[in-house]
Amino acid sequence: MVADMSKKAKKNQVWGGRLEGNPDEANLRFCAGRDVTSLPMADKELLGWDVWTNLAHTKMLCECGVLSKDEYRQIYEAFEKLDLDSFDLDPAKEDVHINLEHYLVHTCGIEAGKKIHSGRSRNDQVATDMRLYLRWEILYLSASVINLALSILERAQDLTEAVMPGFTHYQPAMPTSAAHWLTAWSQGLLRDLQAMNKDYELINRSPLGSAAGFGTSWPINRERTAELLGFDQVEENTLDAISSRGEAETRIAGSIGVLMNRLSQISQDLILWSHPFYGIAKISDQFVTGSSIMPQKRNPDFAELIRAKAAQASGTLVALMGIQKGAMSGYNRDSQQSKYLIMDLFREVKDAPVVLTGVIETLTLNQGRMEELAKKDFLNAADWADWLAQEFKLSFRDCYEILSLAVKYSAQTGDVMSLKGLEQAIQESGFEGRIQLDQKQVDRLNNPKELLKTKTHSGAPSPDSVQKMIKHQRAKLAELDANWTQLTHQFDARMAFALEALKPD
Ligand code: ARG
Repeated sequence: MVADMSKKAKKNQVWGGRLEGNPDEANLRFCAGRDVTSLPMADKELLGWDVWTNLAHTKMLCECGVLSKDEYRQIYEAFEKLDLDSFDLDPAKEDVHINLEHYLVHTCGIEAGKKIHSGRSRNDQVATDMRLYLRWEILYLSASVINLALSILERAQDLTEAVMPGFTHYQPAMPTSAAHWLTAWSQGLLRDLQAMNKDYELINRSPLGSAAGFGTSWPINRERTAELLGFDQVEENTLDAISSRGEAETRIAGSIGVLMNRLSQISQDLILWSHPFYGIAKISDQFVTGSSIMPQKRNPDFAELIRAKAAQASGTLVALMGIQKGAMSGYNRDSQQSKYLIMDLFREVKDAPVVLTGVIETLTLNQGRMEELAKKDFLNAADWADWLAQEFKLSFRDCYEILSLAVKYSAQTGDVMSLKGLEQAIQESGFEGRIQLDQKQVDRLNNPKELLKTKTHSGAPSPDSVQKMIKHQRAKLAELDANWTQLTHQFDARMAFALEALKPD
């Protein structure tokens, strides 16, 4: 089935004749983006959540004696037969809340539908719907970030000896290993997951029952609706629960912004690694895209889109921050806009970790080329200075000076440190006699694999240190994964409880 779809996908492209593998369907969709897809109404996205909010509120009203059992039954049955997919929102009725009230009263002819707004307002209703929506989206996004971190760690496992150049200012800097580089990515992703967990915890509270922001004289039970909606607790102060609309959105946009900056950086790394001038990596044929005019092209479009989506995430964060800041405490219609911002953001970013996971799983690394690059351009100059200082009990700065000259003289004959260049530098610096070198030492320090082995402290690129890091990160990821499983089980259990508890007596 998957293979068939890919074949079809390949046929749909004008490019790709030079490629061996078939293009990845999800990547093609990701890259085509909104060029060819339309957006659903924001409140249509909330429809299911709003039905749940309505049921929780009316069930509670029934338990508190505001609605009769029969009235609740009619409402429950009307919602039960509502087909979420085919239910069209009438723009004349402003939003999902009024559309659903209208559905009960006019479509289903239920008189009690006129009572469902007792003790609540659209202000707390939409704030509640949004928390339900966000809770769900965070779980989905976290799962794909867990998978991405896992795939990175899997690849890192076999690359601890794969020496490659490390860069500062985009310039060759010091030798490192591919595994050290990859575990830098995954270490950041673990923090992103922790941040999203914290967001989830802060979001998982119920604003329902705050009404317009100032409570209600109806005999409501907020703890009960919180329970029926699977929240951890109520967001107690009713004015805060309404005035803080948009805060949950801002928090998660912040976490997504940081996550997307990371994915953007990973993307930029992949763009450069796979550039023919670097030749370090090859992105699989499944994940490159072609050109409608240049048949030879293998473009990393997914990575470019991730970079741009990271920019969009920052913009969303700034917009969300701005919406809330100036508004007087209480409900303000400004907050409606936060709905579009956060929904657009989730839509734009949710597939980024999924596509990157596929790219990383299928990435080919050219270890020969990586080692070749790590051997030239004097990436070992700082290591040489460190070694001289430690071996001959000299100051780092003196040795730095020696190495500056050694690079200069060695560069006259090639692009690796030469014994002759070193000796000339030592002599010129006045350290002749205090430093004795031989070709064996030069060969050892010119071998980046040997240099890697000397960086043994925690977090450093020696194969042993990176193996330890992989172990630590795997343990942390397992903990985060278990937490995710626990949250989804909790979600399922609370949903199951609600489905049962919401049934009419
Ligand atoms: N559609 C509105 C929103 O998303 C619902 C709340 C409207 N409340 C009001 N008092 N006008 O914010």
